[in-house]
Order: sequence, then structure tokens, then C-alpha cells
Amino acid sequence: MSIIRTVNLEKNFGGLKALSNLNLSINKGSITSIIGPNGAGKTTLFNCITGFNKPNGGDIFLGNLKITGQPPHLIARSGIARTFQNIRLLSDMTVLQNIMVSRHINLKYGFFDCIFRNKHFFLQEDISTQKAMKFLDFMGISEYCHHLATSLPYGIQKRVEIARALSLEPEVILLDEPSAGMIHAETMSLMSQIQKIRDIGKTVVLIEHDMNLVMSISDWVIVLNYGVMIAEGTPNEIKNNRQVIETYLGFAHEHLA
Ligand SMILES: Nc1ncnc2c1ncn2[C@@H]1O[C@H](COP(=O)(O)OP(=O)(O)OP(=O)(O)O)[C@@H](O)[C@H]1O
Ligand SMILES: [Mg+2]
Repeated sequence: MSIIRTVNLEKNFGGLKALSNLNLSINKGSITSIIGPNGAGKTTLFNCITGFNKPNGGDIFLGNLKITGQPPHLIARSGIARTFQNIRLLSDMTVLQNIMVSRHINLKYGFFDCIFRNKHFFLQEDISTQKAMKFLDFMGISEYCHHLATSLPYGIQKRVEIARALSLEPEVILLDEPSAGMIHAETMSLMSQIQKIRDIGKTVVLIEHDMNLVMSISDWVIVLNYGVMIAEGTPNEIKNNRQVIETYLGFAHEHLA
């Protein structure tokens, strides 16, 4: 069953067609990878789905809900969370505070609870802290909760970003190059972490250049080139697709074992 669907999606930057007439469907509960050369439109697709870019044409659906062109905070509330290709953590805050800040869209207290700091406010804050710790624990980084987020090694910061996205309790999580800059051992552990996210019932959409990672964990792979979908299929089908080998896998060969 499809959870995200794009219909004739278009995004232009001036004369450049970053996405052209894109029709794709992401299955609920799957790990779907989006691959393709630099500039293929992968991040633009995430930006359109999450409201950071406004499409020039077409539609995007989350289940039956049309989310085309809605602002990022409403899309996040509807159930889609993401990480960014370049880490975007708040530099003067601890890991826990980074998670708490984004969790505020889920808090159940109102304006007056907040102003008067009443019992309800503190109860909700407590529940929220516990939940935030649960997500840090899930990502194996709870020991860093009181560290300044941006003082941590790159691989840990990437995990904090994933924990922050998970803490919004989304149905769908979009990860933009989560393994970039990681050493091999970190990538291996990230791989099992992403599978765990799928196993708790989330839908994962992954942009990745590491072909070992993509081919070992994806249920489905979508290939973009110059904003156009040139192929989709199981990892095996994609590995053997001639056009994909010529346009991308040849280039990415060094990333394949
Ligand atoms: N805000 C923008 N303004 C102008 N051009 C943009 C903008 N964002 C993206 N582009 C262009 O759109 C095209 C698609 O970019 P995008 O970042 O989506 O590619 P990508 O597939 O994510 O590439 P990479 O693998 O390098 O991250 C590129 O030619 C890029 O230069
Ligand atoms: Mg990108």
C-alpha cells in the first residue's frame, strides 16, 4: 500500500528542471532508496515532500491527504520527518535539548499552561523528556544526552539528527545521505539502525550514495537522473538494469564491494 505518492511533480529553478513530471509511489512500511548522480534532484524531491521547496506543478499525497505546497511544520505534523544532507543541529544546545525543541510540536499543553508553568505543564515536560531519552536510547546515543550537540563526532551528530526526526513520531522518515562522512564500522551500525526503524513500523526513504548500504537494506530502489525517474525495482533488478549501470552504477562502481 502506498503511503507517499507524487503525481506529475515538477520543480524548476529558473530554467533548470530539477524534477520533471515525476510519478512515484513509496510503499508503507518499506525502506525505499532514491539513488542517482549528483544534481539528479534527490534532495529537491525531499524538499518538495517536506515543504521546503514549493513545486511548480503536480501533487504530493501522504495517504489520501494532499500535502502539496504546505509549510514544513504542517507537513511534519501530518507525519513526515526528515534529516538534512548538511547537519542542522542547534549549536548552543545539548543533544537532549535539540530533541526537546523539535518535540514541542507534539506537546499537549496550551498557552496558559506554559505561561503559568502549572502542574500540567511540568507533567507534559516530564513525559516529553522521557520520550526524548527513549529515542536517544533507540539510536544508541543516550550517553551523550548532556553533551553539546555540535561538539560531538560527525557520526554521532548524524544519529542525533535521526533521533530528532524520530522524536516527532512520524509515519515516514526521510534520510538524506545519512552515511555521508561515516567510517565503515559506523555505516554498518547505521545500516542495522535503519532496519530497526523499519521494523518498528515506520516507512523509511533513504537518499544514499553508498551502494553497499542501498543494495543490502532496500526493499525498493528508485533511480533519478536529471530530475527524471529512469528506473525502479528491487535491488537485484536495479543492479542488473543496463541504463542504470551506464548512467549511475558505472560511476558508483567504486562504492560497490
Ligand atoms: N535552491 C536552489 N536554487 C537553484 N538551483 C538549485 C537549488 N536547489 C537545487 N538546485 C539545482 O537543482 C538540481 C538538483 O539538485 P539536488 O540538490 O536536488 O540534487 P541531488 O540529487 O540531491 O544531488 P547530490 O547527490 O549532489 O546531493 C541541481 O542542478 C542543483 O544545482
Ligand atoms: Mg542531495
